[in-house]
Amino acid sequence: MDSLTIPRPDDMHLHLRDGAALASVVAHTAATFARAVVMPNLKPPVTTTAQAVAYRDRILAALPAGTRFQPLMTLYLTDTTPPDEIARAVDSGVVHAVKLYPAGATTHADAGVQHLDALDATIDAMARAGMPLLVHGEVTDGEVDIFDREAVFLERFAAPLLARHPSLKLVIEHMTTAQAVAFVRAGGPRVAGTITPQHLLLNRNAIFAGGLRPHHYCLPVLKRETHRQALVGAAVSGEPCFFLGTDSAPHARDAKEAACGCAGCYTAPHALALYAEVFDQQGALDRLADFASGFGADFYGLPRATDAVTLVREPAPVPEAFPFAGGEVVPLRAGGTVGWRVVDG
Ligand code: NCD
Ligand code: ZN
Repeated sequence: MDSLTIPRPDDMHLHLRDGAALASVVAHTAATFARAVVMPNLKPPVTTTAQAVAYRDRILAALPAGTRFQPLMTLYLTDTTPPDEIARAVDSGVVHAVKLYPAGATTHADAGVQHLDALDATIDAMARAGMPLLVHGEVTDGEVDIFDREAVFLERFAAPLLARHPSLKLVIEHMTTAQAVAFVRAGGPRVAGTITPQHLLLNRNAIFAGGLRPHHYCLPVLKRETHRQALVGAAVSGEPCFFLGTDSAPHARDAKEAACGCAGCYTAPHALALYAEVFDQQGALDRLADFASGFGADFYGLPRATDAVTLVREPAPVPEAFPFAGGEVVPLRAGGTVGWRVVDG
């Protein structure tokens, strides 16, 4: 198969940032994707529906003229998010999910949740409304090894949460382990998981290949090869609980190449090509459409896209960097090539 046409895909986990950074990156996603679930970890975070509506307006204003891209907004859950805020979010029609960051787990997670048990009324409101809870599934306990933080979160927090809220829809974002794959599979139709291109393509050796590679550092951190293989198996399985979420997370070059570098891989410009490489290697290109353009929309109760994109098997160079808010952002595989080119229609 040298060309493949699929419905226009959706990115179910994306960081667009704000201001000049937003203006630098949003067109990269909008060129390929129909919609994206936009993460609320701005500084300050998007904690109210009013802030989400205003952020959505800024995203729409930053789009190139004539683009039909739709941002699907999320709220940042805090220890004080009231059930009423969920009602407002549902009524708005533009907020599609709520994001749980355990306090301190990742970029701009300092305002995140410290006492999940105390949020039962708010989470009940979500369950009743059918609004998914998206989790950054890592414990922040410094005594837990960084490579075990996802598996421990699933046991300590995600499983009890599902037991307390039998109708809550839950997404394990950016899954990185075989344990996450098993957890999502066992969770029935109300539990899903997103998978990033970097976790499908790289294992943790990539962080240390010939020296420290800050552009391979993201959270949750890359894991060992057996976990990567479990994720690839899940992505190409054709099971509706696994779908595309890039977690494209741009940081300025100097914030990554630093003594204490930020977490996040930037993949928005070539994400679909990266996924196509994985599906192609597995002889599963015929399953890319459901993973990229079907299952995510179904889970969120959205109509599937009606227009299409075509992938052509053709090497395409990856630039060394892209302009980013007066500086630059280094994409995953900078200076290399991807095996597919995306063309419209
Ligand atoms: C994300 C970011 O930079 O906002 N970073 C990352 O490594 N994935 C936050 C997140 O999703 O953890
Ligand atoms: Zn993310």
